[in-house]
This record gives sequence, structure tokens and C-alpha cells, in this order.
Amino acid sequence: MKIIGTGSVLPKKIVTNDMLSEFLDTSDAWIYPRTGIKYRHVISDEKLEDMAAEAARKALEDAGMKPEELDLIICSNVVNEYITPSLSCIIQGAIGASCPCLDINCACAGFIYALDIAESHFQAGKVKNVLIVCAEEPSRMTSWKDRSVCVLFGDGAGAAVLTAGDNIKGIKLSAASATDKLYQKRVLEPTPYITKEEESIPLQMKGQDVFKFAVKASSGDIKFLLDKLGLKADDVNWYLLHQANMRIINSIRDFLDQPAEKFPTNVESHGNSSSASCPILLDECSKKGMFKPGDILALSAFGAGFISGAVILEW
Ligand code: ACO
Repeated sequence: MKIIGTGSVLPKKIVTNDMLSEFLDTSDAWIYPRTGIKYRHVISDEKLEDMAAEAARKALEDAGMKPEELDLIICSNVVNEYITPSLSCIIQGAIGASCPCLDINCACAGFIYALDIAESHFQAGKVKNVLIVCAEEPSRMTSWKDRSVCVLFGDGAGAAVLTAGDNIKGIKLSAASATDKLYQKRVLEPTPYITKEEESIPLQMKGQDVFKFAVKASSGDIKFLLDKLGLKADDVNWYLLHQANMRIINSIRDFLDQPAEKFPTNVESHGNSSSASCPILLDECSKKGMFKPGDILALSAFGAGFISGAVILEW
């Protein structure tokens, strides 16, 4: 399997740290040094499904592929306005494809998990071309009265088109159930029979626990793959890490003992866009012409669950 096209879309509304301090007890002086975030793109009048379809169209155009050539669409999404149908089915209709569709919820690691599912389909000989779309609106999951959480996130959609090839060198997936560290709950429709207590709770996060897990999991996943493939950290040309927090990225970089130039980032201008973060970064770097054929890329992400994953691929 190999990536032959990428695309991404961001909402037009930009919210700076100073704008947040107009209604929250926070400041750029607190947010930037702790997170590396200066501003983020946040949904206003856009619909997530439209952004997802647009990212998909851009990736298909980049790949020079028609929607009818797709054999599978995998969409990674934590939450959107539709409970059902799946976002992948909505995207399928919007872009004019007719293949099977599958949604996954693997939190911020969704792109890596989607790559693993796609790779399995290629290895089983079930597909020739696959579209992955990661579309997320975490700004709608947080309470905008909770300064410890809402300042961290931004929205967006990223997509990748895959075709046959042997460019995926290895994928490592991990999970460790810790459901009290990062979660959101919602109340479903009532029935005449429900007697249990239920409540809607916006995204809750034990920040320092998430921080420690993120560094350990990402560092461990990447090291596992390097060892398995007989590679050294120096052999990787580019590390594309989940854009949650600059200090997390720097801690993983310290562990790998690699120069900052190998770690492109957009967290400063995007915030954490959950599973969309990796494919958006991939698309932006690709469109800047940063990757040369034969370059080795390591992608790694972590999120609620806890769940994490890494992939090493040849561009
Ligand atoms: N502005 C000002 N003060 C704040 C803010 C804010 N936005 N947020 C919290 N504070 C205050 C707290 O209330 C606390 O005040 P107190 O000491 O009076 O009680 C103080 O700052 C310190 O709070 P901590 O939570 O201890 O701050 P910490 O140094 O741990 O930084 C942070 C918080 C940035 C969230 C850090 O823990 C972190 O980066 N964690 C990882 C979070 C993350 O990346 N989550 C997403 C990953 S998973 C996924 O992608 C879904």
C-alpha cells in the first residue's frame, strides 16, 4: 500500500489566544509556553461533512483518481452532528463514489488505525484503492467555560488516497483502557424504561496523565517499529507526530534524540484537531514539497482510550 494523494480543509474562523482571554480567565502568556498553540481554526457556519468531502475531493484530485475507482472509504471521526448514517456514507454520496464505507472512532490515533485497516484490506486482496478521511470538530466536545480544555483544540479534515504498493514498512497499534483520564459523555433519547442516572459531560481531561501517557506511548510505538525494522532513529527523514502539544512533541523528540528540523509542526496555528491532525500535517508538508521519493516517514498519534499507534512508511 502507498499514499498517492492527500488533501485537507480547515474552517475559516481563526480564534487567537487573545480572543479566548476576552471571555476566559486565560492568556497567550499561559497558553503558548505550555502548549505551543497561538491560534486555532474553529467551525462556525461550516458543516463537518462538507469539510470532510472537500478534503476527500482534494486528495482524489492530488492522486489523479476518480471517485468511482475507490473500493473502500474509511472515515475516522469521534463525533459529529449525525449519529447515523456514518460520515463515510455521507462522504461517499457527496463525492460520487459507490464503494463500501466504514467509520471508526479511535480518537486522535484514528489515521494510524485507518491505515492499518486499509493495509489489511490490501494484503487480503480485497481492494485496489482506498480513501481515508479524518474529520473532527473537537471544539464542539469541550465546554468553552473550561479554560483547561477548550484552549487546546481546533477543527479540520484531512484525507489520503491509497493504492497498491509496498511502502508501508510497519504499523504498531496500542491501547490501555483508562477511561477516567479523557472522556466525554452524552445523554441518549429517553425511553419509558430508563431508570438509571445519566448526564451529559463535556470533554474532561486529566492533563498531566494524558501528557505522560502521550510521551510514553508515542516514544514506545516508534521505538518498537524502529527495532522491528532494524532501523535507527537517524534513518527516519521526517517525524509527523499528532499535533496536540509542542511540549509533548519536544519530549518525544528528546527521547529519539533527533533534530527539530525533522519534526514539522502546525500545532501553533491549528491546535489539536484530533485524528485529523496527522493527515492535515501530512498534506501540508506534501504540498510544500518537503518529501522526496524514498524518504522514510514516521507518523505517530495518541488519544482517548488511551489508544496510540505509529506507522513507518516510505514516501
Ligand atoms: N489559562 C490559565 N490558567 C490555566 C489554564 C488556562 N488555559 N488551564 C489551566 N490553568 C490553570 C489551572 O487551573 C491550574 O491553576 P491552579 O494551580 O490555581 O489550580 C494551573 O493552571 C496549572 O494547571 P495544570 O493542569 O497543572 O497545568 P499543566 O502545567 O499540567 O498544563 C496542560 C496543562 C497544558 C493541559 C498539560 O497538562 C498538557 O499539555 N497535557 C496534555 C494535554 C493534551 O495534549 N491533551 C490532548 C491529547 S489527547 C487528544 O489529542 C484528544
